[in-house]
Amino acid sequence: MTTSIILDCDPGHDDMMAILLAAAHPNIDLLGITTVSGNGSLDKVTYNAQRICALAGLTIPIGKGANDPLAGKASAAPTIHGASALDGAPLPEPTYDLSELNAVELIAKLVAESPVPVTLVPTGPMTNIAQFLMAHPELHSKIEHIAFMGGSVTRGNWTPYAEFNIWADPEAADVVLRSGIRTTMVGLNVSHMALATPEVLDRLLALDTDLARTVVDLLKFFAHTYDTVFGMPDPPLHDPIPVAAVIDPAVMTTALLPVSIELNGDLTRGATVVDVHGITGRDANVHVALDLDVDYFWNLIVDSIRDLG
Ligand code: RIB
Ligand code: CA
Repeated sequence: MTTSIILDCDPGHDDMMAILLAAAHPNIDLLGITTVSGNGSLDKVTYNAQRICALAGLTIPIGKGANDPLAGKASAAPTIHGASALDGAPLPEPTYDLSELNAVELIAKLVAESPVPVTLVPTGPMTNIAQFLMAHPELHSKIEHIAFMGGSVTRGNWTPYAEFNIWADPEAADVVLRSGIRTTMVGLNVSHMALATPEVLDRLLALDTDLARTVVDLLKFFAHTYDTVFGMPDPPLHDPIPVAAVIDPAVMTTALLPVSIELNGDLTRGATVVDVHGITGRDANVHVALDLDVDYFWNLIVDSIRDLG
């Protein structure tokens, strides 16, 4: 069964792998890519989305999105993804222009024109998604699922309690989680199971294609910065996981739980408060990822690079 998706991202090394997986797998029809500042400035992550599509020979429409969060100013994460937000290997120049539509306009057009309901897959701060939901209530019925990478059942990575994507725009995440649309959350508690080990990199190199070699060089850069910043020599490949869950929900185990976003805490703003034991009495609004079939996940990743090579 094919699922039509729009990938909203801030490439970013792991966002790149999400784009490649979505583009390669027959269970997914990647209608469009939209960009949001996060791992780098809006211009950098948008340029990277174009270069990734050039690298893989893709011609998917790309809509440039939000530079600033709903509240406050943009903040980038150059320490993890490098000055370009996708350091580690030379990449080709874009082979086609950006859409004339911005992210929200492109999402609205693609959803309105789709003959089937659409799944939104945000893998960066959710500013574009929130702005789309607020601007187009008439299209909510055509969004069947929002599967996002962000938050955590446990602790954060950008602050002690907040994961970067949610921390960068907590108001946007709050809009998404209150939308009433079926939502799946892939947080750090699961994404830290998807470690790009030397064995994974060797499997990719064994494909013996230029694309595989470029991907490995990029992931080695990602590994170096993750080791330097977090003491994790094998970097977690966060963003392809919600894509994998759209391809086959069996790739991970989830539970329907109440999830709220902390908007006010001095030390906890941006935290995803996951009510695992139902203590708050709040409605269970999010399908929260709790476990990952790691071997299945990496097989999907390696197969996607093989098929695009
Ligand atoms: O915290 C991990 C998330 O932040 C990933 O989406 C990564 O690309 C960065 O955006
Ligand atoms: Ca990302």
